[in-house]
Amino acid sequence: MSGKRILLVISGGIAAFKALELVRLLRRQGCGVTCVLTDNGGQFVTPLSLQALSESKVYTDLFSLTDESEMGHIQLSRAADLLVVAPATANILAKMAGGLADDLASTVLLATDKPVLVAPAMNVRMWLHPATRANMATLKQRGVHVVEPTEGAMACNEFGPGRLAEPPEIAAAIAALLAPGAKPLAGRHALVTSGPTHEPIDPVRYIANRSSGKQGHAIAAALAALGARVTLVAGPVSVPDPAGVTVRRVETAAQMLDACQSALPADIAVFAAAVADWRVEQAATGKIKKQPGAAPPALALIPNPDILATIAAAGPLRPQLVVGFAAETDDLMANAQGKLTRKNADWIVANDVSPETGIMGGAENAVHIVSAAGIETWPRLAKDDVARRLAQRIADALGYGGVIAHWFGSPDTSR
Ligand code: CTP
Repeated sequence: MSGKRILLVISGGIAAFKALELVRLLRRQGCGVTCVLTDNGGQFVTPLSLQALSESKVYTDLFSLTDESEMGHIQLSRAADLLVVAPATANILAKMAGGLADDLASTVLLATDKPVLVAPAMNVRMWLHPATRANMATLKQRGVHVVEPTEGAMACNEFGPGRLAEPPEIAAAIAALLAPGAKPLAGRHALVTSGPTHEPIDPVRYIANRSSGKQGHAIAAALAALGARVTLVAGPVSVPDPAGVTVRRVETAAQMLDACQSALPADIAVFAAAVADWRVEQAATGKIKKQPGAAPPALALIPNPDILATIAAAGPLRPQLVVGFAAETDDLMANAQGKLTRKNADWIVANDVSPETGIMGGAENAVHIVSAAGIETWPRLAKDDVARRLAQRIADALGYGGVIAHWFGSPDTSR
């Protein structure tokens, strides 16, 4: 981090005092820190204390002639390697999402061409309010990085998410973004499901399917290679655990859903598992024995929860990008489109798993990426290559590169 320049925007809120500690940590690691203090921020910390810790001029006023002659707001917004907003109030997040520029802080944030990291802090109800949820979704969509607030008792005597992350955690997120050769998914958390599920009939028998976990595991590895922190929720598979990935092993669909829910929040979720659609309503506790002359036992099945649809449903913990799969033997595109809408996914990776394709359990895959923007057809590739290409596509959609592509033309879908 040594030699990197950070523009730190401090907006109002009781947590603003933590910005002082953040400045101290960043200076100790050799970063140059320039502070922009909003009017409300100035109610909680003084320019003088920020100036003493940052050893730099503190900017507060959009229309100060001295500031404009020394360094205008455009230059201020471009001279940094990274803009950090900590604490970020509901108000400044709303201004960022709406493109407002009515003070120095919001103006530099609108004028910048540099990556932006926000560390929100606010009352739990404000954090969970649909307006803030929508603003956060917009900002993440544009590639703004987020250090999520933590849960706990708040200054306003309420309890829940909304407390500013601790300064060492914010400093670590800054370090990850500024690391030389920083990877495009650094600082992002990805959740991936993979493999089949096993639904017990009795202690020795189960309902399963032919999924090998190859594609899901390869996706987890490819996302980790691009710098994401990956939680892989894997059904029973024989493929090895990918390196550098946290693996949660499960057997049943119900366990897979539990493991996914407890891995949230996540920025990215890829549901590559072939989840059994039904389970036996009441699995026998002892082995079911054949009775001479008696009919085979009838198995009463009940539906399993739909993990993709549950996690993708709108709500505060919905990951920013949700990718599902559609494994079909008939009407591939129509079924994939149906799943996209029905399950509220952002993309569906559609593949034909008819036995003659050799895809289920095989080493290759031929997929189409179905989204609201249209259908992209990829050539038949090794599952590892499909995974790498998908991970890169995800990074393009979420990362800063994605924003640039969006500004200057349609995204490059040929890769
Ligand atoms: N999926 C899930 N939970 C389920 C069933 C499916 O998360 N209980 C996910 C899969 O991981 C995949 C997508 O939903 O990302 C579609 O799965 P697929 O098996 O193709 O479709 P189903 O919903 O099972 O529908 P159908 O069996 O009718 O094709």
